[in-house]
Amino acid sequence: MTPGARIQETIELIDELISGSHSADRLFARWFRKRRYAGSKDRVFIKNLMYEVLRNYYQLAWWTGEDTSARSLTLAASILSGNTNMEDLVGWCDGQKYRPKPLTPSEMQKLRKLKSGDGYLSPIQPDAVRCNLPGWLYDEAVRVFEGNVEQELAALNTMAPIDLRVNELKMNRGHAEETLGASGIEVSKTKYAPSGLRLMSPQSIERLPLFENGCIEIQDEGSQIIAHLCSAQKYMNVLDLCAGAGGKSLALAAIMENKGKITLCDIDQNRLNRASVRLRRAGVGNCTLKIINPDQNPSQLSSMGVFDRVLLDAPCTGSGVWRRHPERRFTLTQSRYSELTRLQGKLLRHASRLVALNGQLIYATCSFLAKENEEQIQKFLLDSGSFVVIPIGDVWRSVFGSSFSFSGDYLRLTPYHHGSDGFFTAVLKRIK
Ligand SMILES: C[S@@+](CC[C@H](N)C(=O)[O-])C[C@H]1O[C@@H](n2cnc3c(N)ncnc32)[C@H](O)[C@@H]1O
Repeated sequence: MTPGARIQETIELIDELISGSHSADRLFARWFRKRRYAGSKDRVFIKNLMYEVLRNYYQLAWWTGEDTSARSLTLAASILSGNTNMEDLVGWCDGQKYRPKPLTPSEMQKLRKLKSGDGYLSPIQPDAVRCNLPGWLYDEAVRVFEGNVEQELAALNTMAPIDLRVNELKMNRGHAEETLGASGIEVSKTKYAPSGLRLMSPQSIERLPLFENGCIEIQDEGSQIIAHLCSAQKYMNVLDLCAGAGGKSLALAAIMENKGKITLCDIDQNRLNRASVRLRRAGVGNCTLKIINPDQNPSQLSSMGVFDRVLLDAPCTGSGVWRRHPERRFTLTQSRYSELTRLQGKLLRHASRLVALNGQLIYATCSFLAKENEEQIQKFLLDSGSFVVIPIGDVWRSVFGSSFSFSGDYLRLTPYHHGSDGFFTAVLKRIK
């Protein structure tokens, strides 16, 4: 591909992402499956430029004077990243087949003001822009992160590492580490999660025999920790209400040594199908999958109050996983945010009815936003009157046998502090 064609392909990808219905990694993979003519250098160039735009969206929009067209953002990112100079860009955008239309005089004028390689930050940017946030989210981010808002949001804008969970039903962590090392894959043990390994450099592991045989799974350390904080034990009856593709259920099954019962529910059949494949690969035999109707109260599906543990890994804004899905920073709208918080409240009420007396309800999100987290739990506790919080420090000590410095009753993991994705967890006990 010519450099101009690469830029044009990036513009088209960004255009699709701005429309809001795709995740960048999936769109990119699909895009390139259809373009067999693209070589590895084309892929690297386009992927890098696409992520430059996604990770720096609000700063780019500031530089382009709020012109958020895919073309404008991509051209500005080409210059600001230092990967291209103005002269080359003018030559590449010549309107020939597959290449971008020539730059207009006003585009030239705007682009000439950008200094190649100077980066995206400017001291006169508003605070929200400096943090790459939509203005309406900035105050909430400040409330949550207090003095660390810039560092926390910068950490959420870096590239996430790849973490593996060793499936202890099949292999222990030390053995998996050695086997990976023997195939030239360097890993280190995760800091908190007892079955986790972190790849020292990003690489694809899906074709490794260890993966194909179900000895390892890809799962962020934070997500592994949440599965442990469910304190599930052998022979318990566990419900994973928003099970998705089964990431946490897989971890729970290993913690429960494949004994007892786990029910996975979701409204998305495709995700449950993926869960089914993963469970089979992992050698898990104690799970049942159930599709549920989003408008139906899940408590009608099973008898009320029978589960020792109910995990509600709620649908959320995903603000804690912006490292992996930077497009979600700008596709999130205020109305979607409100819709999600309403849904979380409803799911909490439904989930609570399924918990046995003295059983636990574990509420989790991959979001740092208080309205989806602490505020959601505080409202639920007031309305319900049947649950109390188990301070997360107590849960941590009993599960991991060590202490951890928490401020408050809930778990909050962030890339800046813990090196994991951003997660929130509250553990509640049913007392009546
Ligand atoms: C955060 S994801 C779950 C991730 C999963 N627990 C894991 O660890 O891989 C949230 C899930 O909630 C599901 N969901 C959305 N609305 C729901 C509803 N009303 N009832 C049950 N699940 C729902 C979504 O389909 C999605 O799979």
